[in-house]
Amino acid sequence: MLHFKRPAMVQRVAVIGAGSSGLACIKICVDEGLEPVCFESSDDIGGLWKYKESAEPERSSIYQSLVVNTSKEMMCFSDFPMPDHYPNYMHNSQLLQYFRLYAEHFDLLRHINFKTTVRRVAQRPDFCLSGQWDVLTTNENGEEEKHVFDAVLVCSGHYTHPAVPMSDFQGYETFHGRCLHSWEYKNAEEYRRKRVVVVGIGNSGGDIAVEISRSAEKTFLSTRQGAWVIGRMSSQGLPLDMTAITRFNNFLATVLPKSLVNWAAERALNYKYNHKLYGLKPRHRLLDRRPLINDDLPGRILQGAVVMKSNIKGFQDTGVIFEDGTVEENIDAVIFCTGYNGTFPFLPSFLSNGELTLYKRVFPPSLLHPTLAIMGLFQAKGPIMPIVEMQARWAVKVFTGASHLPPKERMLEVIESDRRRNMNSYPCPRQAALQVDYITYIDFMAAQVGVRPNLLRLLFRDPVLWLKIFFGPCTPYQYRLTGPGQWAGAREVILTQWERVAKPFRTRAVPEPDDRTSVLKSPWLIAIGGTVIMAALLSKHKIPILQHATTIWGGGKTFLRNSWLNS
Ligand SMILES: Cc1cc2nc3c(=O)[nH]c(=O)nc-3n(C[C@H](O)[C@H](O)[C@H](O)COP(=O)(O)OP(=O)(O)OC[C@H]3O[C@@H](n4cnc5c(N)ncnc54)[C@H](O)[C@@H]3O)c2cc1C
Ligand SMILES: *[C@@H]1O[C@H](CO)[C@@H](O)[C@H](O)[C@H]1NC(C)=O
Ligand SMILES: *[C@@H]1O[C@H](CO)[C@@H](O)[C@H](O)[C@H]1NC(C)=O
Repeated sequence: MLHFKRPAMVQRVAVIGAGSSGLACIKICVDEGLEPVCFESSDDIGGLWKYKESAEPERSSIYQSLVVNTSKEMMCFSDFPMPDHYPNYMHNSQLLQYFRLYAEHFDLLRHINFKTTVRRVAQRPDFCLSGQWDVLTTNENGEEEKHVFDAVLVCSGHYTHPAVPMSDFQGYETFHGRCLHSWEYKNAEEYRRKRVVVVGIGNSGGDIAVEISRSAEKTFLSTRQGAWVIGRMSSQGLPLDMTAITRFNNFLATVLPKSLVNWAAERALNYKYNHKLYGLKPRHRLLDRRPLINDDLPGRILQGAVVMKSNIKGFQDTGVIFEDGTVEENIDAVIFCTGYNGTFPFLPSFLSNGELTLYKRVFPPSLLHPTLAIMGLFQAKGPIMPIVEMQARWAVKVFTGASHLPPKERMLEVIESDRRRNMNSYPCPRQAALQVDYITYIDFMAAQVGVRPNLLRLLFRDPVLWLKIFFGPCTPYQYRLTGPGQWAGAREVILTQWERVAKPFRTRAVPEPDDRTSVLKSPWLIAIGGTVIMAALLSKHKIPILQHATTIWGGGKTFLRNSWLNS
């Protein structure tokens, strides 16, 4: 077997794109003493979150009203909490504002070359020795420039090329109405008093159908598969992801039978609105796929403003035919919310042919030296930013030789077994390859970097923090407690995370309880009192303790959370 010398010290790193991923990469390179050079084809940071009045080719594009579907404490960067007054789920413009604060705070702008597009990334002729890359860029006048880099971080996003299945449908050419992709959709103005079909029940499809239905004559939502629909609000109106993404739940998911968890969670969801009755019910089980996060869709269906339909079969001159044989006449517009194809036109074809095969969604296994990493090309049931941040921390450790990848054959095996595991819930191989499991995936990378929280040690050293970390939301700060890149403020922001959740609600003074009840607010008093009463009751009635342990547990958890919110 041939052995190649490790390339000389990695120093200069190209960062392609200055969206949220690119910004995190620049910051992490600087932290590690590397020299990042970022190329951004547009004239601003933010990528997807920089709203533009009309869609531009090869760029991601969002609609005016887009509100994030992940909450602020979960989606922020690990050493830069969002301002406490930000709403828990913010408008896209406010998220862009947060990225500006981040860039300013860590002085990232000086590393960015705006209006500079990366055209080609290729291995240098001496790549097997140097591990270096040739990067070709053009500026706004079309002038080319060649650069040499020790490593490359690809942060160019993958919501740029709309996947449009229009031509799959018979009669499409002669259809009189307007057809467009959600990528082009900006607001509902032009659909006032129109009859519109929205195709696809992803997050965009749900949002757009709801928005149009407020002024359109009729809005049809066509879906092949249906979806489980869940609101941003969890119990007591707390952010869904903060109650769902916890290490405790992750632990439960590994010990409880999946079918039982599915059954219980689906029951709870159907209790609010029966998915079968509402025409939403999919074939897959709730935990198998990402649910649709939408607060308003069931209400719009209840009001008859959104009408659920099956998959589109074809078009007539002015009508749309559905697979169940029904026809809706006089349709003015069809909006395809059918997702995107990720493309990386600047990468060598041996990397970007078809879908990218990536070890742990980051490293192409075929490279002799792991000096190129892809950021953000995955899907998760949680926020993207903290995952990408950890991808960058891992990639940089691999670049500098502080962390090592397994041999190529082993990487290919892991890629295949990861994909096979996902095939149960995502039968399409491309989709299956993209899915990652939120906590498990970040923890894996964190272990490579050396920043995975050691729960056992924490339990003995800092039980208060342990409680927050095990039972509370898996907020990104957890990965700044120890190890390389440790941040002194991490413990404090974990202890105060629920206060920042409560802060934006505190816009009206609510009546305070009188003195008598305020004694009862002492959490310890209640905890001890509650335990005593409960123990007495249990022993008196000989209630099997296990049967009630979960109820008590649930109550205790809610209580602890409330004591934070009320304090
Ligand atoms: C409608 C929608 C809603 C979403 N909502 C959420 C959410 O609520 N929460 C969440 O966590 N995630 C959400 N996401 C996922 C979102 O994609 C990620 O959160 C994140 O914004 C991706 O950032 P990025 O930097 O990887 O890519 P982008 O934001 O797309 O940025 C890529 C940047 O690279 C630049 N670029 C591209 N090619 C080149 C080139 N060749 N040369 C130079 N520059 C180049 C682009 O100009 C752009 O600035 C949503 C996605 C969509 C489509
Ligand atoms: C884009 O996606 C569509 C549908 O998912 C697929 O049919 C098409 O082949 C893809 N195109 C490219 C270039 O990958
Ligand atoms: C939020 O919406 C985007 C865009 O549709 C989607 O890719 C992402 O998976 C969603 N996040 C969650 C947690 O559902």
